[in-house]
Order: sequence, then C-alpha cells, then structure tokens
Amino acid sequence: MSILLIGGTGKTATRIAALLAASKKPVLLASRRGPDATSNGHPAVKFDWTVESTWPGLFENGHIEAVYMISPQISQPWVPMIKFVDFAKEKGVGRFVLCAGTTAAIGEDGMGRVWEHFIKSRVDFCVLRPSWFMENLIEPGVVHTIGKLGKLFTAAQDGEIPFVSADDIADVAYHALIDEKSYNCDLRVLGPEILTYDRIAEILTKVLGRKVEHVKLDEAGRIESLVKAGLSDYYARFVTRLEVLASQNFEKATGDAVERVTGHPPKSFEAFAEENKVVWLDS
Ligand SMILES: NC(=O)c1ccc[n+]([C@@H]2O[C@H](COP(=O)([O-])OP(=O)(O)OC[C@H]3O[C@@H](n4cnc5c(N)ncnc54)[C@H](OP(=O)(O)O)[C@@H]3O)[C@@H](O)[C@H]2O)c1
Repeated sequence: MSILLIGGTGKTATRIAALLAASKKPVLLASRRGPDATSNGHPAVKFDWTVESTWPGLFENGHIEAVYMISPQISQPWVPMIKFVDFAKEKGVGRFVLCAGTTAAIGEDGMGRVWEHFIKSRVDFCVLRPSWFMENLIEPGVVHTIGKLGKLFTAAQDGEIPFVSADDIADVAYHALIDEKSYNCDLRVLGPEILTYDRIAEILTKVLGRKVEHVKLDEAGRIESLVKAGLSDYYARFVTRLEVLASQNFEKATGDAVERVTGHPPKSFEAFAEENKVVWLDS
C-alpha cells in the first residue's frame, strides 16, 4: 500500500516523501517526467493532470491508500481535479490531502470546488490552507534580486503575512495522510510570526550581513517587472493580484495548526534565513 504524491518533484511533496520514508511508508511520486523523476529510491510514475490517459498508470503498481494533491496552473483546475478524485476513489483511494491556499473557500471556484467535492463524495480528506511559503524567497529569480541587487521587489506594501516553511507544511500533510483518524477539515498552516516584507528585508540584512531593501511597487509596476523577468502576462498578473490582496492584510492570520498537528512549533523566518543564507550569498 503506497501513498501517492502528486507534484512529486515539488517543494512540499519531496519533503513529505522524506517524512514517509523515515517511517517506512511506501511512496509513489507522480510527475510529468515519469520514471526519470525517481528520487531517493522512491519510484516515480508519469502523470499529467491535463492528459487523462496518464491517470490509470498510477494504479498499476499496487494499492494506493491516500493521495496528496496540488493544483496544476491551468484555468479551471478544479475540473480535472474533481474528475480525478472520482477516478481514484473507484480505484480504492480512501483519503485525499489537498494543498490549497488562503483564498480557498468551500464551494467557490478554485480549490473550494475540490474541497466541496470531497465532502459530497464522502471521502476522507484534509484541505491545507498555508499562507505564503518562506521558500518563495529561494526561488531563482528572487535569489538573484536579493543576492545580487540587495532588493526585494513586491506590491505587498506593508501587508502582514504569516510566512510558513514548506518543512512545516509537509509535516502537517504527512500527519493528515497517515494519522489513523482522518481530519476531514481544513487547516490554516501558518508560520509563528506575522511579517511585513520590510521586516523580512531587515532579517535578511542581519543574517546576510549586507543591506537588503524592500522595494514597494504599485500594481502596474509590479506586473511590468515580473513580465520583464520572464513570467507570462497571466502569471505576472496572478502573482501581483495576490500581493495586492496581501497589502490589504488578506493573509494576516494567526493559528496553531502546525504545533497542534506535528507537536513542534513552526520554523521562524530567521531560522529559515540562517539555514539558507548560502543560497543568497553564493548567487
Ligand atoms: N508558494 C506559496 O507561497 C503558496 C502559498 C499557498 C499555497 N500554495 C500552493 O501550494 C502548491 C505548490 O506546491 P509545491 O510548492 O509543493 O509545488 P511546486 O514546488 O510549485 O511544484 C509544482 C509541481 O507540480 C507539478 N506539475 C505542474 N504541472 C503539472 C501537471 N499539469 N500535471 C502534473 N503535475 C504537474 C510539477 O512536477 P513535474 O514538472 O515533475 O510534473 C511540480 O513538481 C500550489 O498548489 C500553490 O497554489 C503556494
């Protein structure tokens, strides 16, 4: 019996795989790259949300008891995701853990439609609703602006955000996948402090020993800068919209889900920055 991790090469699933391996639970990674995505001894199988002919192959290597899923970046992602839940349920999957975000609301377009479908289909589930990942700050483009330019560009202004580490999200997902009793609810997965990007820049300045400045862009300027950096117009607008929402404190929240589920407090941004400082310093 395996646990299937969709987005198996991504930030959260790779960390969940390590936790499952440590407790000797068999893992199957799903990736558009197929078996080439095999890593740390975990088998990988070809899977693409948008190519239904890749779905049956997931179930050809033995029983899958639970599935971790993240959304593909396509319009109306809930359409294939809902269809997949029905398909996997027919194959005997009893539990689904979905990594959504702050915006998800039951029944509303977006991950809320998948969440509603879990309830209607009477499957065991957990919907994780993390705030922003600390690991966004070690994505290649951002590493360049922090490491080389000493600047952090956003349209988030003074918005307050409880940044959370993918390590903690993975640990919560791990428990939601394997704990004997399914949670059957959503969990806000939040970091320990509410931070502005000014504060993030201050912490980076201290940890890196050199000045990092938060540059506050307006909406149009932020879209333009992201497009110049190589993002599609669609994705640049999507990211900017989230930052503008954050500037209105849409992300601001507190909660203890990480500690309640995992038994340890969530990682602080300063600890994350210390762990990763070489990434920015060597850029
Ligand atoms: N970053 C944030 O601040 C933030 C905040 C809240 C919520 N979230 C949510 O967290 C999730 C991201 O999780 P993550 O960071 O672990 O992922 P990630 O590192 O962004 O990786 C995305 C994964 O999706 C796979 N993928 C992309 N398109 C696919 C397709 N059509 N079919 C199958 N697989 C596909 C890719 O694998 P292959 O290329 O190997 O196929 C990749 O492993 C997203 O749903 C996002 O909305 C993110």
